Amino acid sequence: MLTQFRFDLHATDGAARLGIVHTAHGPMDTPAFMPVGTAGTVKAMLPDSVAATGAQTILGNTYHLMLRPGAERIGRLGGLHEFMQWQGPILTDSGGFQVMSLAKLRKMTEEGVAFQSHIDGSKHLLTPERSMQIQHLLDADITMAFDECTPFPATPEQAAQSMRLSMRWAKRSKDAFVERPGYGLFGIVQGGIHHDLRQESAEALQGIGFDGYAVGGLAVGEGQELMFSTLDFTTPLLPTDRPRYLMGVGKPSDIVGAVLRGIDMFDCVMPTRSGRTAQGFTRRGTVNLRNARHQDDPRPLDEHCACPACRQYSRAYLHHLIRSEEILGPMLLTWHNIQFYQDVMKGLRQAIGEGRVQDFARDFLATEALGDI
Ligand code: GUN
Ligand code: ZN
Repeated sequence: MLTQFRFDLHATDGAARLGIVHTAHGPMDTPAFMPVGTAGTVKAMLPDSVAATGAQTILGNTYHLMLRPGAERIGRLGGLHEFMQWQGPILTDSGGFQVMSLAKLRKMTEEGVAFQSHIDGSKHLLTPERSMQIQHLLDADITMAFDECTPFPATPEQAAQSMRLSMRWAKRSKDAFVERPGYGLFGIVQGGIHHDLRQESAEALQGIGFDGYAVGGLAVGEGQELMFSTLDFTTPLLPTDRPRYLMGVGKPSDIVGAVLRGIDMFDCVMPTRSGRTAQGFTRRGTVNLRNARHQDDPRPLDEHCACPACRQYSRAYLHHLIRSEEILGPMLLTWHNIQFYQDVMKGLRQAIGEGRVQDFARDFLATEALGDI
């Protein structure tokens, strides 16, 4: 029996939801945090180590992989799961967002985005149809519609124009998507911080019909308060029987607040990128392991964490690795940070199941505010 792509909602606690997304490559318990594996690797981690943290789905990027090593090549080699040896579900972003932040000499038209590679200057055209084809070649379990992430700030007129272009691209994405059992296509709600535009966008996407709905265009500089107020009116516009994904978010407190507002899925470079710049996440906020105050400290980074960095090593050793620019430093800190994020998600899921997610959130934010000692 082939798995159908499906979302099962198991419990709710206020707006927060506990569920499972079923895909061709296995299930994902939600709320979920998906580590970012942009270029076919979660940087500094072996796939088995990523899985050992409890992460079930990872994210890949159309933009990076189409440029290097090329989507057709990955397709010939058996798809991204086989290529990078990740057995679980993979979600791929559609490319538009990365083109706008990374590529040179971009030109956006109704057709798509023409751009030059940031790697070698070669010329490319990304359209909704080509993005669907690339994500198919990669064998993504979850394909994202091709969209434009509206910059912030934008005038209401700019936000409306950008959102309506994304909705036309969403229709073309749906038409070009090759349906297969266990594989899903998500639409992306745009509209900036404007209630009427988010409503128009959510309705347009539901008219087309998607397997899940993402909220895009947030965490682009508007700040946590505006992000939360936008979610307050956006998530109620989305169907309850499909997963909801907040793209590119975020800090642990962003995730906790968004789960309270009904979001099921997240991705962010923060745990992996910070791990490579000596930042460790703990229950009492972030710690900079480069700081000399750790040089004689025999304690683990986080006494509540069961990852190898915390189970076996001292803060003094992690500090030493970073100061010595040893590769093991970023490896251990990345592992720890992914473990920390997965532990937060597990805590949220347990709390939702037991009807105490408000208490969990309050305790989490209070402990984080205490700061490291
Ligand atoms: N990543 C973060 N925000 C966005 C967005 O609005 N669109 C896409 N495609 N990816 C994102
Ligand atoms: Zn740890």
